[in-house]
Parts: sequence; C-alpha cells; structure tokens
Amino acid sequence: VIRFGIIGAGNNAAGHARYFHANPRTEVVAVADPDAGRATALAGEVEARPVADYTEFLDAVDAVVISSPNHLHREHAVGSARAGKHVYCEKPMGIHLDEARAIAAAINDAGVQSGVGFSVQFGGVVQTMKRLMAEGRIGKLISVWSRRLVQSKQPRTGWRADHAKSGGLLFEINIHELDWMMSVGGDVERVYAQTRTTVASGPRSNDHLWVMMNFAGGAVGSHEGSWHSAAPNHFKGIHGTVGAAYTDEWGQQLYVGTMGEQEREEIATDEPYDKRANFLDCIEHGAEPAADVNWGLKVMTVAEAVFRSAETGQPIDLREGASL
Ligand SMILES: NC(=O)c1ccc[n+]([C@@H]2O[C@H](COP(=O)([O-])OP(=O)(O)OC[C@H]3O[C@@H](n4cnc5c(N)ncnc54)[C@H](O)[C@@H]3O)[C@@H](O)[C@H]2O)c1
Repeated sequence: VIRFGIIGAGNNAAGHARYFHANPRTEVVAVADPDAGRATALAGEVEARPVADYTEFLDAVDAVVISSPNHLHREHAVGSARAGKHVYCEKPMGIHLDEARAIAAAINDAGVQSGVGFSVQFGGVVQTMKRLMAEGRIGKLISVWSRRLVQSKQPRTGWRADHAKSGGLLFEINIHELDWMMSVGGDVERVYAQTRTTVASGPRSNDHLWVMMNFAGGAVGSHEGSWHSAAPNHFKGIHGTVGAAYTDEWGQQLYVGTMGEQEREEIATDEPYDKRANFLDCIEHGAEPAADVNWGLKVMTVAEAVFRSAETGQPIDLREGASL
C-alpha cells in the first residue's frame, strides 16, 4: 500500500484525499495545512493525522499530493523530492519557468515519479478528441482552438487575488488550455501572445490573454482567455483536412463535423482518463507517465513564452536550439 501525505487541505485537496483514501492501493497517512481547522477536518474524514507543516509527515509517507497555493508548489515539490518522495503536484508547476525548472530538476535528480494535475487534458472531451484523431476522423490537424472566458461570481480572495501568489489567469486557470492544446497539437515551435490586466497590477499580472501557437506538425493554435468577462464561454475545438470536433459554448457537449457533410454529429464523450491511477502505475511498476514534470516543464516553457512575447511584442521561437 502506497502511503500518501496531502499538502494543503483546501477544496481541491479534499478530492485527492478522498480518492487516495478510498483506493485499495493507497492510504492517506497525514494532511498538512497551517490552518488547523482545515487540516483536522480533512484528516478526520480520511482517517489521517493532521499536521501544520508537510515536513512533519515526510518520514511516514511514500508519496505526496501538493495542493497548496501556487506560489508554494516549488518549495513543497523540491522539498518532497529531495526527501525521496514521489510527487503529484497540482497545476501550475510553479508560477515562473525558473520554478518549473527547479521542480523538474529535483524530481529527475531524485529519480522519483511525478504527475501534474492537468485535469482538462484527461477529461472526457479532450480524450474523445484524441480518439477521433487516432481513428482518422480529423485527418491532418490544421487548427486547435480554445476560448475560456469566465466572469467570477465573487471577487477573488486570499492567494488567488494576489497575482504574485497565483500567477494570475494564465497560471491559475488557463495553463489547462495550453496543456490540452499541446497534448493534441504536439510540440510548439513559436508563440505570439498578448496579456492584459484590467483589475490587478504588478509585474506579469494577467486577467486577459491572447495566444497564437505554431505546432511542429504544422497546425496553428489559438487561445483567448479571461477571468473578467461578461461573456462566459468555454469553447474548444480541433479541425483538420477530414473533419472537426468542437464543443458547445460550455465545453461539455462534443460535436463532430465531416468535410462535405451538412449535418454535425452530436457524440457522447469518453470516460475521463484516471491520471491518479497512472501515477500509481508509475510508482508500482514504472508505467509510462501520462503527464509528469517533464511534460509540465514543456507547458511551463510555452507559458513563459506567452509572457516574453507579451513583454517584447515579438513572436518567441521555441525550436530546438532557441533558449528562453
Ligand atoms: N487541477 C485542477 O483542476 C485544480 C482545481 C482546483 C484547484 N487546483 C489547484 O489546487 C491547489 C489548491 O487549490 P484550492 O482550490 O484547494 O485552494 P484553497 O485556497 O481552497 O486551499 C489551499 C490550502 O492550502 C493551505 N496552505 C497554505 N499554506 C500552506 C502550507 N505552507 N502548507 C500546506 N498548506 C498550506 C491553505 O491554508 C488552504 O487550506 C492550487 O494550486 C490550485 O491551482 C487544481
């Protein structure tokens, strides 16, 4: 049985703690959160020990889940890896490329397994898009797009409101979009982007994003994002030489179109892929990781290019040999 420690006892951590508590392959040994009430409540629910700091449980676990605020992911991932623990890190993999590099280096140096919580890529919609591509229903991929605009019902509070802690829209939410687009589009060769902030201030604050990507395979990616928009919309799609797959405005219902046919087909999406089970397979028998820190580093490199392009007004070259 793989023993887990959960770092953070917030909303998202609760999902992980319940999953690893219910799974016969794993147990949750401890939950760390400086908020004692939260630590105690979640630990009680999964029959684990509440602690204030993750270093108090490291000796007793084989693996950790990092679900703390974004600006602490580097400290928690590097510390856990150096102690020889497998690391399942929530997105984002830090809030700067340097942090992602430090996390990947610590994990690779320690030779431990890793996973990054890119849940959109492993959701039913994107899994179905990938299956349709594999079945030849899309043909050669030409375009990958995502528009993810939300209007928050309440003002953000705590670490999420502080772009120096959350990384703003790009790192806190829309990193998911770069991730899934790359998972279908492949390696990114060039990025041209703009960011804007209308509510926050400070270096790299970002509430609105526009990103164009050239994929090595020839497809073009485009993404528009906002978390202060009165036009809530989460539209994603791909199209190729044979057909297209695209969602409704909420990104849930998937439609398939075929060149030369008028009617679109409404299809049921596949089951989500269990990325946490893949992490366990990696630990138990060295399975191929679905999204480890080396993948996460690629995504963070594209995110870094978004800022560089926004800052310089120039497209950023990410082909081999180019360096950020
Ligand atoms: N993959 C996804 O779809 C997804 C969804 C939601 C959240 N997340 C990620 O999960 C993480 C947590 O999000 P959340 O919604 O649970 O936030 P939250 O604010 O509800 O919880 C964060 C918790 O971390 C605790 N914390 C602060 N400092 C800590 C420390 N030093 N050690 C341990 N815990 C500490 C806080 O007290 C709080 O309880 C974030 O990185 C977020 O981006 C990912």
